[in-house]
Formats: sequence, structure tokens, C-alpha cells
Amino acid sequence: MTNVPIIQFKHVTKQFDNDPVILDDVSFVIERGKFYTLLGPSGCGKTTILRLIAGFTEATAGEIFFNGKKVNDIPANKRQVNTVFQDYALFPHLNVFENVAFGLRIKKLRNLEIEKKVKEALQFVNLAGYEQREIKEMSGGQRQRVAIARAIVNEPEVILLDEPLSALDLKLRTEMQYELRELQRRLGITFVFVTHDQEEALAMSDEIFVINKGKIQQSGTPTDIYDEPINRFVADFIGESNIIKGKMIKDYVVEFVGKQFECVDKGLNDNEPIEIVIRPEDLEITTLERGKLQVVVDTQLFRGVHYEICCYDKDGNEWLVHSTKKVNVGDEIGLYFDPEAIHVMRLGETEEEFDRRLEAYSVGDSDGK
Ligand SMILES: Nc1ncnc2c1ncn2[C@@H]1O[C@H](COP(=O)(O)OP(=O)(O)OP(=O)(O)O)[C@@H](O)[C@H]1O
Ligand SMILES: [Mg+2]
Repeated sequence: MTNVPIIQFKHVTKQFDNDPVILDDVSFVIERGKFYTLLGPSGCGKTTILRLIAGFTEATAGEIFFNGKKVNDIPANKRQVNTVFQDYALFPHLNVFENVAFGLRIKKLRNLEIEKKVKEALQFVNLAGYEQREIKEMSGGQRQRVAIARAIVNEPEVILLDEPLSALDLKLRTEMQYELRELQRRLGITFVFVTHDQEEALAMSDEIFVINKGKIQQSGTPTDIYDEPINRFVADFIGESNIIKGKMIKDYVVEFVGKQFECVDKGLNDNEPIEIVIRPEDLEITTLERGKLQVVVDTQLFRGVHYEICCYDKDGNEWLVHSTKKVNVGDEIGLYFDPEAIHVMRLGETEEEFDRRLEAYSVGDSDGK
């Protein structure tokens, strides 16, 4: 039983009338007790996936499973899911206690039991003592915690959170990211969290689904996705990167900007056109002679921890560098990088193809040494 995924989508498609499809053949597995994030730009279908999980809308095609049982026809109030909406949807005319107690009153629990459960839930989100406060007397971060208390008090198996932090300022948001992650660990409930902020997704998740235009582009741990983006969309969306067209000459050799470089990728076709990604923090500023690339510094911005330096090579390609070294605008400098810093992306690769290539790569790695 415990090996059965708590939620599974099989080839789920969603379409309204004759509009373009909103979700296009989406399949994924959500395991019990982990923190999942749906990450993607506005309109890509994140909220629609949450609504399908919660049962607020029906799939046009495909199957949705909960604990191994098909739930396509099970109504929302019969699913073991609670949702925290983006605007928290708290009841402004009820105080904190009654907001949290709402679901328990509907279930007709005894007063004593309600009191005990609400107290525990408020304690969990650090709001003990706020029971009698009016919602309008609570700050944004506190309201957010009331909304979470209202979700956990029902002891659901899954909590869905639709951009719950987007209304908060940066400092509070960072604090709440930490608190939310801690809360999930303590409760052990499965969280499905929606955001369009890649840093938030990287900081919080066990697993991220990167979505674009109704399709899951890539799923994996934050490091998987950051280090091995499957395509240009993911590379671009997850952090700043240098993305440039190139060619796979043969195993372990790529060509870009008219030069050949050693890399760690293999298993592609010889002379296959590709794109490569190099992260700005993987480019090291050095002398012209030692540099693998020769560039001119165009702009330099201090970002607190590092300088963000924008350079151009002689072909007019832009290279973004993050470095603690200060340079001067107009300097001619060299950029050095390790073979491991080059990430090769196949053009239009699907997730299955990508997984196969990674697998072949790591198998080759262990017996090839
Ligand atoms: N009831 C509806 N009827 C028609 N189209 C809809 C309906 N609900 C959503 N859509 C469309 O489905 C697409 C996906 O919407 P969805 O709300 O899932 O996006 P999202 O990823 O949550 O975006 P955001 O980050 O802006 O919240 C959008 O193009 C939206 O206009
Ligand atoms: Mg949305």
C-alpha cells in the first residue's frame, strides 16, 4: 500500500469546448509525504492541475488516481485533499478560531474536539493566542498561516497550495518558504505547491515539475533540473544561463563559437546540432591566454554576493558571468570553464529520451573507469 503513489495522472488532457488544449497528455506520479512544486509561466496550466487533483474540474480525457483508485468521478468533498488558495479565501466576518474551525463544524464534530484540534493547528503555524483576532487585524503572513491551519486541521492526505506566497514581500516570503517547508516535514503530509518563481521552487521542493504550454517539460529534483536542463525552455526558466547553438562533433567533443571543446556528454549522433548551456557561475574570469573564450566586458553590476558581468565575444554572442572578481567595462578578458560546465541539450528532446540518455550516460560512467 505504501508503495502506491498517492496521486497519479495518466495521459490527462483538459480542454474547454473548442479552445486550444490547456493540458496536453499530462502524466506524473506523486509519492506520499514529499514536497512537490508545479513551476511554470502564467497560463501554463498549474492551477488547472490543482483543480483536477481537488476535483473542482473534470478531465477531458485520461485517468486520475488517488491511492491507486481512479477518482475521475469522485466529487471534491469526497477527496482527501485540502486547498490553500492564492488569496487564502478566508472568511472576513469570522475570527481566526472560527476560520480554522469551519471544516470541523461542517463535519459536526463535538465542540470540545473542535477546540482541541483548532488549538493544535494554530500551534503548528505559530499562531497560538490569536484565536479571537479578526482576520482584518492579521498581517499578510499571518493570514497565510491561518489559511494553512485551516487546511491542516482537517488532516488531509494532500495539501494543495496555489501560489500562497506571491502576495508577500520578499523578506516575509523567504521566512514563510522556510516555515512552510519545516511544517511539511513535521506533518509528513504530501504538499503540491504552485509557483512561477524558480528560486522558490528550487529552495523548497523535493521534486519539481516544470510546465510550459500545458505540457510537463521536465520533472526531477531541484539539482537535476538546475544541473541538467532538458531543453532551452527549462534552462532559461530555471535561473540565468548562457545558451548557445552548437554541434556535437563526437562523444566528449562539442563545437560552438567556431571552436571545439572537451565535454562530458556522449551518446548523441556525430555532428548532431545541439544547444549548450553554461551557467554564469561556472565561467571563471582569467587572462586572455588561459581563457577558452576571449570577450570584452560590456556591463558590470554589483549584486551583493557577486558581480554580474555581461561580456561579448567577437561574434557578438553575449556571455553572462557571476564572479566575485571586479573587472572594468571595456576590459578584454578570458573566460575559463571546466568540461563539466558544458551541458548539452538535444533540440526538442522529450523527457523520456532525456532520461534514457542520462541513464546510458551514468551506466557508461561506472563501468567505463
Ligand atoms: N474555465 C475556463 N474556461 C476557459 N479557459 C480556461 C478556464 N480556466 C482556465 N482557462 C485557461 O487555461 C489556461 C491555463 O490556466 P491556469 O489557470 O491553469 O494557468 P496557471 O498556470 O495557473 O497561470 P497563473 O500563473 O497565471 O495562475 C489559461 O490559458 C486559461 O486562460
Ligand atoms: Mg494559477
